[in-house]
Amino acid sequence: MEVFDKIKDVKRVLKEHKNQGKTIGLVPTMGALHGGHMSLMDASLNENDITVCSIFVNPIQFNNNQDLIKYPRDFERDRNMLEDRGCDILFSPENDEIYPIIPIVKMSFGQLEKTMEGAFREGHFNGVGTVVSKLFNIIEPDRAYFGQKDLQQFLIIQQLVSDLNFNTELRCIPIARESDGLAISSRNIRLTEDERALAHNLYKALELGKEILLLNSGIEKTKNEVFRFLAQWEQISLEYFEVVNGRTLDPIAKIDQSESVALCIAAYVGQIRLIDNMFLFS
Ligand code: PAJ
Repeated sequence: MEVFDKIKDVKRVLKEHKNQGKTIGLVPTMGALHGGHMSLMDASLNENDITVCSIFVNPIQFNNNQDLIKYPRDFERDRNMLEDRGCDILFSPENDEIYPIIPIVKMSFGQLEKTMEGAFREGHFNGVGTVVSKLFNIIEPDRAYFGQKDLQQFLIIQQLVSDLNFNTELRCIPIARESDGLAISSRNIRLTEDERALAHNLYKALELGKEILLLNSGIEKTKNEVFRFLAQWEQISLEYFEVVNGRTLDPIAKIDQSESVALCIAAYVGQIRLIDNMFLFS
């Protein structure tokens, strides 16, 4: 695996690969790699001649400075995991390389960011859209891999690619879960043992919501039942539970089998904010 921290170096090597007609897959990450990231890697390794993984903890997508400071970082471990998995190129730039100046251009995503993560994390998707645009311009990947775990992020990047004609095909990879159902996340290691034992209840809440919706019980009743279920644990503090159109994220008034419906949840378990989602019909 080749490792680069400078834009000009990674561009030079990628140009050689492209001149030989090789296809490039990109897996953008913020490091602290885990099984979820590895399933994105595997999808890219399967479909492309060259797989690039980027590791960059993007400061402008954090609206909480403490969260940025506490974000887990372990470069050596990440590098070894990528090497073992068969990654071809690791791009891990420093802050100044990506942001020699703080960007003046701002991105907004209309209705797509009015709800859920967009509503609770101001400026978050401007940060995500900006860094993903930079990475797409630097790497120029044929395909890029994102997780369904961050469904709103995926839909926003899809909008970005369509609006700005990026020449990159997007793939949305299913959520990798722990054996008890907890969605794998870099934040899980910050949970205490007791909190970790409770955290899978977010997944349980989604399953419960799905079950109630499929009985045609209506959105309000479903939401109430999910709130009541999670209220059992004082360490769990629900931020939102939404039933939305899985493509537009508009709220759903009534279940229609011909529509894509997603259940999305965000909650604090102790001090740690976790998110998860599930589609109603697969
Ligand atoms: P990060 O949180 O490191 O996640 C990188 C990618 O891994 C994202 O596309 C995310 O959805 C995916 N992912 C995380 N956990 C997953 C799981 N359990 N199953 C499947 N996929 C999972 O998301 C970001 O970084 C950043 O916002 C980024 C896109 C890199 C821009 O800075």
